[in-house]
Parts: sequence; C-alpha cells; structure tokens
Amino acid sequence: MTNALTPRRGRLPALVAALTAGVLLLAACERPPVETVQRGYRGTGMNQVYNPRTVAEQATLNAVPPAPPQAPTDGPAASTVFKNVKVLGDLSVGEFTRLMVTMTEWVSPAQGCAYCHQAGEDFSTDTLYTKVVSRRMLQMTQQINADWKTHVAETGVTCYTCHRGQPVPANITYAPAAQQQQTGMVGNDAGQNKPGVAVGLTSLPYDPLTPFLSNPADIRVIGDTALPTGNRASTKQTEFTYALMMHMSQSLGVNCTYCHNTRSFAEWDASTPQRGISWYGIRMTRDINAQYLEPLTGILPDNRLGPTGDVPKVNCATCHQGAYKPLYGAPMLKDHPELRAVRAALVPSAAAAPGAGELAPPPIPAGATTADAVLLFAVGSSTLAADAGKTLETLIASLKADPSASVTISGYHSATGDLARNQELSKQRAFAVRDAFKAAGIAEDRIVLEKPQSAEANLSGEDANARRVEVTLR
Ligand code: HEC
Ligand code: HEC
Ligand code: HEC
Ligand code: HEC
Repeated sequence: MTNALTPRRGRLPALVAALTAGVLLLAACERPPVETVQRGYRGTGMNQVYNPRTVAEQATLNAVPPAPPQAPTDGPAASTVFKNVKVLGDLSVGEFTRLMVTMTEWVSPAQGCAYCHQAGEDFSTDTLYTKVVSRRMLQMTQQINADWKTHVAETGVTCYTCHRGQPVPANITYAPAAQQQQTGMVGNDAGQNKPGVAVGLTSLPYDPLTPFLSNPADIRVIGDTALPTGNRASTKQTEFTYALMMHMSQSLGVNCTYCHNTRSFAEWDASTPQRGISWYGIRMTRDINAQYLEPLTGILPDNRLGPTGDVPKVNCATCHQGAYKPLYGAPMLKDHPELRAVRAALVPSAAAAPGAGELAPPPIPAGATTADAVLLFAVGSSTLAADAGKTLETLIASLKADPSASVTISGYHSATGDLARNQELSKQRAFAVRDAFKAAGIAEDRIVLEKPQSAEANLSGEDANARRVEVTLR
C-alpha cells in the first residue's frame, strides 16, 4: 500500500514547485487582454501594443497639479526689490513670488521653502547647495524650452516634468561601478548577462546610457553598402545600440515600431516622425548632461554622487517616466511663460550682482589680450554688466554683416579659490555672453564656447581682470 502512495506524495511538491516557478516566470509578463493600434501601413506590422491596465495606472501617475492664479506682471522688477536674483530679475515681484510657491510644490512640498533657503537667514543668502542647484535648473529649464523646441515643441518642460514633487527625480543615471576584469576566456563581458532595469531586464549591456546619453558615442551601426565593405561596427557595438533602444522604448512605454519600420531600422524614409523627434531628444539629453548636470560636480554633496563619484544625469525616463509624451503632453508651460524664454541677458540690472555698483571693474590694460571684446564681471556673479550691450554692439554688427563669421567665447577665472566653483562660474559667465549674442539674433552654431581657463596667478590675490570673458571674431 505505502509503496503505491509514496511516489504520488513525492510528485505533489514537485508539481507545486513547477507551478510556482511557472507563475513566478509569468509574473514578469503582462496579463492579457492587450490592445493594439495600427500605426503604419497595413502589412508592415507597425502596431502599438497597449495594456489598458498599465495605461490606467500611468494616468494617475501623470496627473498634473493645478496651476496657481496668474500674478500681476506690473509693478517693480524682482531685481530692484530683492538682493540676489540672477536669473529671474526681470519678473515682477508678483510673478517671482508665484514661481517660488510653485517651485516649492513641484520640488520640495514636504520640506517647504526651507529646502532651498536656510531657516533663520535672509532669503538672499546662497548657503544651501539646493538653491545654487535650483538657479542652474532654472536656466536649464529655460534653455530646454527656448532652444530645444525641435524636441519639446510648445509643450515644453517645467520642474514638475522631472521632479514630480520629489527633490530627486525618480529616474536618474549614474555610471556603474567599474567592472571587475575577469581572467581567462571570459574577459570583459561589457556588462552583459547582468540583466539591467534600464535595458528591460535583457542580457544586453546594462549601461548604454553613459556612452550614448552622457557622451556622444555613435549609435548607427548598420552598413550602407550592399556588400559588407567598410562598416567596422562590431557585434558588441550593435548590442550597445540595441540596449539603448530598449531604454528608449521602455522610457516611453512603446514598441520598436513606434519609431521604426522593422524592414529597415536604418532608413529614415521608412521611419515614423517620432524617430526624428527622438534623434533631437538624444542630442538634447546629451546637451543637458554636459552643460547643466556635469558642471554640478563639486556643488552636489557626496550623498548625491554615484558609485564612481559622478553626478546624477538625465535620461529619457527622467522626463518621460513611461509615457510617450511626459505627462501625456499636458501643456504645463503655458501657465509659466517665465520658464519659456532665455531671458534677455542684456537687461541692465544693477541690483542683480552683489555690490555691482562699487565693484565696477576697471578697464583692461591695452595690449593685454588679442580678443576683440572683453567683458568683466563682479565677484561671484555671472550677470552681464549694464554696459555689456555696448561692448558687444560692434561684434554683433560684424556677425550680421558677414554670415560666414563666428565668435569664440572664452571664460577666465581667478587662480585662487575653489577650482570647481570657479570653473562653474566662468562657464556661467560664458553662457551669459552667448545668450546675449543669441538674444541679438545670432544663431547658436556660430558661437563657439571654449573650456574655462584659469587666469594667470596674481600675487595681489583679488584681480578684477581674472573675472573676464574674452570674445574673439573668427
Ligand atoms: C527649489 C528651491 C527653492 C525653493 C523651494 C524656494 N526658493 Fe526662493 N529662491 C530660489 C532661487 C534659486 C532663488 C534665486 C533666483 C535667482 O537668482 O533669480 C530664490 C530667491 C528667493 C528670494 C529673493 C531673495 C533675495 O533677496 O535675493 C525670495 C524672497 C524667495 N526666494 C522666497 C521664497 C519663498 C517664500 C519660498 C517658499 C514659498 C521659496 N523661496 C522657496 C530657490 C528656491
Ligand atoms: C530635465 C529634468 C529636470 C528638470 C526640468 C529640473 N530638474 Fe532639478 N534635478 C534634475 C536632476 C537629474 C537632478 C540631480 C538629482 C540629485 O540632486 O541627486 C536635479 C536636482 C535638483 C535639486 C537638488 C536636489 C537635491 O536634494 O539634491 C534641486 C533643488 C532642483 N533640482 C530644483 C529644480 C527646479 C527648481 C527646477 C525647475 C526650475 C528643476 N529642478 C528642473 C532634473 C531636473
Ligand atoms: C522612440 C523612438 C525609437 C524607438 C522606440 C526605437 N528606436 Fe531604434 N532608433 C531611433 C533613433 C532616433 C535612431 C538613430 C539614432 C541616431 O542616429 O543617433 C535609432 C537607431 C536604431 C538602430 C541603428 C540603425 C542604424 O542605422 O545603424 C537600430 C538597429 C535600432 N534603432 C533598433 C531598434 C529596436 C530593436 C528597437 C526596439 C527595441 C528600437 N530601435 C526602438 C529611435 C527609436
Ligand atoms: C527634458 C525632458 C525630456 C527628455 C530628457 C526627453 N524628452 Fe522626449 N519629449 C519631451 C516633451 C516635453 C515632449 C512632448 C513634445 C510635444 O508635445 O510634441 C517629448 C516628446 C517625445 C516624442 C514624441 C512623441 C509623440 O508621439 O509625438 C518622442 C518620440 C520622444 N519624446 C522621445 C524621447 C527619447 C527617445 C528621449 C531620450 C533620448 C527623450 N524623448 C528625452 C521631453 C523630454
């Protein structure tokens, strides 16, 4: 008797184990039914697959907070009332205060104003790093909205697009810790077979974001000749490209056919307009990372840095968070025109720079430089002096007269003090000068920005000429 039963008893746990394993495996899949929408010509298989339950869940995550009532635009400018406003100086005091309140709601609702302003101190102090970072974030948001319309269109972005009520956005990238080199035949596996969330838990290289979205590595791998001639792209490179494509699809909650006709992944004619928009999105993301996130090195505290000590960076999911358009295309920006434009950098604002009045920089000695124009800045400030418009006038006229001419902008900083901070300041000064050219209608591709340079060490310590930007006509 027992003999006949024993094998049965033995089979039951095995069966349960097999079933559990099956359920666990399936847990990663989506439960049917799903819906499909045809997005390309019939027969091309360009269908978009949606799971209505995921979409419903997403809809609540992407709800937009109500916009506060508009503030009066008249009255004194913020720069004349407040002491230390470098970006928002030309807003009215009403608009300025409204933005402070909304920024708090978007970024630090739990912490309040005290997240960026040290409690007990005047609002004008820059004690907290969060305020310094926010100022850069304001400039970044304005630049995205003004210069990257090719991607963000009129919908644009606000702080809420990335932050969603959190000081640290939910989706950020760090470079992964350096890989341990394995010996023998295994070698360097380029991050494969360690399923990464960024690449949809596939065994593709798990960090395609550093090479493609922080650095400008080439994404195209397919040859453009009938015979295999000349194309040096390797299988490994191709896997990196596919890994990036997984990240892009996941970030937007779409399939490959949202952008490609799989008959040819390379051909633009066969692709959807969304692929073109993504092409700009890739360039925009690189630009944000290089111009705004990387320069926060030295400003963000250690607990915000990644395993290799790098600053957090932006990827497609930082804004999109699983939606084909962030917040399903809710046009939040229309209620915040102050985040739309690069503010006219030439508006003279005497109160903007600390002590600008008494620190009026002395003229630079003749023959000290070969530059066509030299702009000097007050200590710790990246605001253009009131007479900057005049200094740049002739250069702007020359650029307009000769469309083949361009300008090179080099920022210098003092040789003393914190190097990272000095470099950042020098960069911001160069940006201010660039923005002045752009505001005058000079296309960005005619303006070359050079790396910040340290001025010659000066024994007297404080040297006004060290805080300069040189502009040279080419
Ligand atoms: C997420 C960061 C952040 C939060 C939160 C925040 N601020 Fe600010 N605040 C800034 C930045 C950045 C500036 C400087 C803007 C500039 O340079 O154009 C500033 C400047 C100010 C100034 C001008 C001070 C001066 O004299 O120069 C006032 C006043 C102010 N904030 C009030 C508030 C109030 C009130 C709140 C809460 C409702 C608040 N802020 C919340 C970032 C923040
Ligand atoms: C494109 C996405 C994006 C937009 C838009 C954006 N931010 Fe950020 N922000 C980031 C990223 C990424 C970080 C780095 C996260 C970190 O500090 O660890 C960051 C960091 C910050 C921090 C530092 C938080 C901390 O605790 O370290 C503040 C404050 C901040 N942002 C304020 C703002 C404000 C104010 C705006 C709108 C004017 C804004 N951000 C717009 C992506 C964005
Ligand atoms: C949101 C749009 C989008 C989605 C979704 C997308 N791609 Fe791409 N894909 C692009 C863009 C844009 C490029 C070109 C990038 C460049 O030139 O910088 C590209 C390039 C490629 C290339 C290289 C083509 C060449 O000429 O070498 C391959 C291969 C590719 N994608 C495969 C895929 C696969 C597989 C998927 C799904 C897992 C996918 N893509 C999903 C936008 C997309
Ligand atoms: C700074 C925020 C931000 C980042 C980062 C970003 N996007 Fe976008 N993207 C937007 C906004 C805003 C729109 C909506 C534009 C509109 O309304 O037409 C958009 C629209 C799109 C669209 C068009 C969708 C459609 O159906 O028309 C595609 C495709 C897209 N993004 C792909 C990407 C890819 C791929 C990346 C990463 C390489 C990326 N985006 C990074 C903000 C961003």
